[in-house]
Amino acid sequence: MKKVLVLHGVNLNMFGKRDPAQYGTITLEQIDEEIKALASELGFAAECFQTNHEGEMVEKIHWAHEQKIDAVVINAGAWTHYSYAVMDALGILKVPIVEVHMSHVHAREKFRHYSVIAPLARGQISGFGVNSYLLGLRAAWELIGDHD
Ligand code: DQA
Repeated sequence: MKKVLVLHGVNLNMFGKRDPAQYGTITLEQIDEEIKALASELGFAAECFQTNHEGEMVEKIHWAHEQKIDAVVINAGAWTHYSYAVMDALGILKVPIVEVHMSHVHAREKFRHYSVIAPLARGQISGFGVNSYLLGLRAAWELIGDHD
């Protein structure tokens, strides 16, 4: 069975508690449940991982490379805007990467308009809350192809 790794970066464990005007009230646990439900509906497996530690995120991406994960969906949180370490780790992957954001980053502060990981991603989905993840998952599914 094909497997997609969904990565949540720094501060994203606080969804449901932080800045509801931007991120709503859904918790990360609920987001992961929706991701897993859609993955099983589409016929593949999704593993979700969150960390607040940049090195741990980098190591999980290395792990994805070793494990031959079929695609990666990533919301890198604030690392999106400046982490060359996460960017370089993603650059090792040969599988499709989809970048997602809950909030509409391009309608927010200027520093959020730039993503160091965007050039490595096949596309970016931002502004649709939990649906950004679900749309990202569908995009990953399309990119993996070979559906049975
Ligand atoms: C975010 C947007 C980032 O700018 C921010 O630092 C986050 C969350 C989002 O999902 O909208 O932590 O990635």
